[in-house]
Amino acid sequence: MGIEPGDSVLSAPLLEAVGLCKRFPLRRSALDWARGRTAPLLRAVDGVSLTVHRGETLGIVGESGCGKSTLARCLVRLHEPDAGAIRLDGQDVLTLTGPAMRAYNRRVQMVFQDPYGSLNPRLRIGDALAEALIVHRVVERSAVPGRVQALLDLVHLPQDAGGRYPHEFSGGQRQRVGIARALAVEPAVIIADEPVSALDVSVQAQIVNLLLELQDRLGLALLFITHDLRLVRHIAHRTAVMYLGKIVEIGPTEALFATPRHPYTRALIEAVPQIAPGARHREAAVRGELPSATAPPPGCPFHPRCPIAEPLCGVVSPALVPRDIGEARIWPTACHLAGMPAG
Ligand SMILES: Nc1ncnc2c1ncn2[C@@H]1O[C@H](COP(=O)(O)OP(=O)(O)OP(=O)(O)O)[C@@H](O)[C@H]1O
Ligand code: SF4
Ligand SMILES: [Mg+2]
Repeated sequence: MGIEPGDSVLSAPLLEAVGLCKRFPLRRSALDWARGRTAPLLRAVDGVSLTVHRGETLGIVGESGCGKSTLARCLVRLHEPDAGAIRLDGQDVLTLTGPAMRAYNRRVQMVFQDPYGSLNPRLRIGDALAEALIVHRVVERSAVPGRVQALLDLVHLPQDAGGRYPHEFSGGQRQRVGIARALAVEPAVIIADEPVSALDVSVQAQIVNLLLELQDRLGLALLFITHDLRLVRHIAHRTAVMYLGKIVEIGPTEALFATPRHPYTRALIEAVPQIAPGARHREAAVRGELPSATAPPPGCPFHPRCPIAEPLCGVVSPALVPRDIGEARIWPTACHLAGMPAG
């Protein structure tokens, strides 16, 4: 068995989430008002625990609406979690304020699907990068122009890119700018939320390769959120599968794809013809509708869609724990029947 980045025996986690929860109150209906009921809560992230290690890529996959972006936004504190803990290098993050909080924000940076939305259209790219360097006091002012040029070089943008405005760049180039801006403050962790899904297929590989190259050069921890299972298989050391706000399986990518233990993971993999050549229909693999996150099913949240559900599944919620099914590697899976054939 090879040693991989992210094997917990190798190092202490760099970034850690423990039992993270984020619930959004929904608008009350007229009936709720009339009856004096409180607003229903949508459980976007429901008790997520994970670790990311230095130099590791952790992929996060799952259907639309399962809570991937909300989790990412909690980790960078764009959302305040309702419960749970976040630790960076063992230090509690949720109690940080002021300069300590800003220091955290420097160390954990986010790359968004559409960097255009977060770029000031009236600011040249060079000025936007310089602003980040100055605000966060990354280097002396005299060193700022040189550092801006170095950042543009790092993400392989042309020499004159610094003098251009965001609208003058293509989608792929804008994502390079987004990555440069994240790197400007010298982070230890990059959280990339669907960083290539808005790009042309031909450009996607370039941006993914850039992220991997930078991770390798700078020793970054990378949390990579995507719908694309082929991509995650290609780049992630470990993969976490989310369903209705929870992680249902998290393990070493190659082993998890070769022998998925959770029926939901199996269904997702079977939905990708390139991964399971025998699979016929992408849509057919995960049968049924995603239940509402305001009223998740009792017991195992996947039980209404699960092909092997048993009566127990509708009553008892399976914990995400390592399940030894007699094979060489074990990893946490939230399924009473982990590893049982699909029937
Ligand atoms: N600010 C918000 N207010 C209320 N509900 C929200 C908010 N943000 C997200 N949600 C809800 O939380 C759930 C999780 O959303 P989230 O965007 O995290 O999912 P996702 O896995 O990132 O989906 P996608 O793959 O489509 O990006 C969804 O039901 C969504 O509608
Ligand atoms: S616990 Fe039961 S319903 Fe849930 S995934 Fe496992 S077998 Fe299916
Ligand atoms: Mg999202």
